[in-house]
Amino acid sequence: MRQPAAAQATSAAAEPAPLLEVEDLRKSFRRGGGSLLGRRGTAVRAVDGVSFTIRAGETLGIVGESGSGKSTTGRLLLRLLEPDSGRLRFDGQDLLIESRSAFRHRRRDLQMIFQDPYASLDPTKTIGASVTEPLRIFEKTTRRESENRGSELLSLVGLRPDHLGRYPSEMSGGQRQRVAIARALSLAPRLLVADEAVSALDVSTQSDVLNLMRRLQRELDLTYLFISHNLSVVRHMSDRIAVMYLGRIVEIGPADQVYLQPRHPYTRALLSAIPVPDPLIQRTRPRIVLTGDVPDPAHPPQGCNFVTRCPHAVPVCHEVDPVLEPDGGGYAVACHLSEGQETPDRTPRSSAAAPTQTGP
Ligand SMILES: Nc1ncnc2c1ncn2[C@@H]1O[C@H](COP(=O)(O)OP(=O)(O)OP(=O)(O)O)[C@@H](O)[C@H]1O
Ligand SMILES: [Mg+2]
Repeated sequence: MRQPAAAQATSAAAEPAPLLEVEDLRKSFRRGGGSLLGRRGTAVRAVDGVSFTIRAGETLGIVGESGSGKSTTGRLLLRLLEPDSGRLRFDGQDLLIESRSAFRHRRRDLQMIFQDPYASLDPTKTIGASVTEPLRIFEKTTRRESENRGSELLSLVGLRPDHLGRYPSEMSGGQRQRVAIARALSLAPRLLVADEAVSALDVSTQSDVLNLMRRLQRELDLTYLFISHNLSVVRHMSDRIAVMYLGRIVEIGPADQVYLQPRHPYTRALLSAIPVPDPLIQRTRPRIVLTGDVPDPAHPPQGCNFVTRCPHAVPVCHEVDPVLEPDGGGYAVACHLSEGQETPDRTPRSSAAAPTQTGP
């Protein structure tokens, strides 16, 4: 599935239209709600103008710290939340002009896998009932048909037919996540949004479930939006990676390029926090420590969103919000100091403050 960056760039001209197109998607939440005095609370810009596309059969990974807007983005795509504004096109169709009831049928094509299968599986229902529930609702399948389809779905995700009669509490965490995947696949969707789908699992179970997802993608021709705070996991799964910070994409491009040659200081900091298996490299590798917390999304800083934590910030970063500038080869970075950015007052990187590094 993953292809070299050069191949992606050269094949771009011949590519078919993307399966999913997301344009300038926005969603704010009211914090504090209304008050007796009539105040309406503060707007938290959870998703603040997000645009991307996903081609059929591709995996786009979304990575970013807690609160960066990853889950909200995923939920908006499935209209589990209604966007404030923006455009969503799936297979050429505008998803947002459909009424919610019409969209319910569209939802067959778009399904979600959550972090905690306990939350998505009813503990009082057997695995068989949970896996086949969407079939019974959407396709009105008979009991016998449901049982057959349930067995097929379980074997697809590496479980046995005798698991159908069990309850979620009688399954391991990895098995429960397989059940959640089987349920999500029951209506033969085309796009799966996986939100921290393996984050609650131990490392070896994580890799089993990730390998399962990759196999299913090949066999069923699935398209994935793969959300995780773990950049290594995202790299393993994704063709392209989008990095989110405070409700926006700050860098997006082919997975290997983002992982091996990140251009945004935020991505570089995220990467430097990942331990390298070789202790020698790990000891000598510079570690970029971000100072300060993620700003409150209700009060983002002026200028660049990342300016309060950026070790390279120059005056323009405090004043001008950088644009996510595509370079023509499918790569885009929102940073004044990235090559190719046109800024009104560009100061050379060498004169910028040195990053905070902790060495060996
Ligand atoms: N229903 C809600 N009401 C109010 N604020 C919300 C709501 N859902 C999300 N937020 C806020 O929106 C921002 C983005 O949240 P979101 O859950 O999308 O982040 P995330 O990147 O998925 O984080 P995590 O890695 O912790 O899952 C956060 O500031 C969060 O507090
Ligand atoms: Mg989340």
